[in-house]
Amino acid sequence: MIQSKKILLTGANGLLGQKVTELFRNETSHELILTDLHDNAFEPRGYDYFPMDITKKEDVKESVKKYMPSVVINCAAYTNVDGCETERELSWRVNVDAVKHFIIASRVNSAKIVHISTDYVFDGKAGNYSETSKPNPLSYYGKSKLAAENALITSGINFAIVRTMVLYGTGRNLRPNFVTWLINMLAEKNTVRIVDDQFGMPTIIDDLGWGLVKIVNMERSGIYNICGSEYLSRYEFAVKIANVFRLNENLVMPVKTSDLNQAAARPMNSSFVLLKAETDLGIKPLNVTEGLSLLKIQLGL
Ligand SMILES: NC(=O)c1ccc[n+]([C@@H]2O[C@H](COP(=O)([O-])OP(=O)(O)OC[C@H]3O[C@@H](n4cnc5c(N)ncnc54)[C@H](OP(=O)(O)O)[C@@H]3O)[C@@H](O)[C@H]2O)c1
Repeated sequence: MIQSKKILLTGANGLLGQKVTELFRNETSHELILTDLHDNAFEPRGYDYFPMDITKKEDVKESVKKYMPSVVINCAAYTNVDGCETERELSWRVNVDAVKHFIIASRVNSAKIVHISTDYVFDGKAGNYSETSKPNPLSYYGKSKLAAENALITSGINFAIVRTMVLYGTGRNLRPNFVTWLINMLAEKNTVRIVDDQFGMPTIIDDLGWGLVKIVNMERSGIYNICGSEYLSRYEFAVKIANVFRLNENLVMPVKTSDLNQAAARPMNSSFVLLKAETDLGIKPLNVTEGLSLLKIQLGL
């Protein structure tokens, strides 16, 4: 018997936040309270929604005091990896200070914090990262996400950290993610230059969302890796996207990371060991073709 919980979800308008809202709403009996920086992107459908800037310590404190959630799921973040290099102060406030605000606020009612982190906490040299591998972030984004992890780990409060990577999916009023951007580019017959020397495990948000449902329902704590089950280069991913969506793969040109002059350094070899999530949570993430095929159905294409 799963005990019904009151959940405060931040970042509810974002790519992951919308999916988490949908899954918790349709698949669980937990009470959801949604928040994000701006007005809600979709109909609240009976759920409380309020706009809040999570960098404002007093607002975070008041919201936790008002709603008394037993779980806070933090899907809000400053997610522009290159932007973090130039907007360092803002990105730190959102990715680190806000998490500390929730830690302080959550002590009042012993709320658990479920936080989303990233493969960018690793340098991508060795790959095959498990939950106990030693982080070594290359970018300011990665540093901020690791600092938030450390704040949670040393806080003494009940927490779960879920590390994930290369999210894709769909929702309402969203910025494009790699997959939706590529579909649009290829549909408009544009040539795209995609790196063939950055490797990772792309993740459909449904798999991550289900992992979060399991973590909440099974009252799990600690660090979990949750990502897609297939390891491939960004170029190989792009070709698979072209194939699944019946677009012209010849428009996808392989380039090297050094050709792109990206502001933030990327981990080149980001592979996760998924054994803990598979055995402890019982999830079986999709491979790329399966994930893209699901997205194709969701997009009605
Ligand atoms: N996307 C990926 O590939 C990826 C990979 C690894 C890990 N992650 C992690 O997964 C989580 C979810 O990512 P996502 O892709 O769903 O991100 P997203 O679509 O960018 O959503 C993040 C949400 O947080 C909101 N936000 C930003 N600053 C805020 C503030 N000061 N107060 C309140 N809300 C604020 C954003 O609002 P605005 O849009 O209005 O700024 C946005 O709605 C993040 O923790 C991210 O670091 C993502």
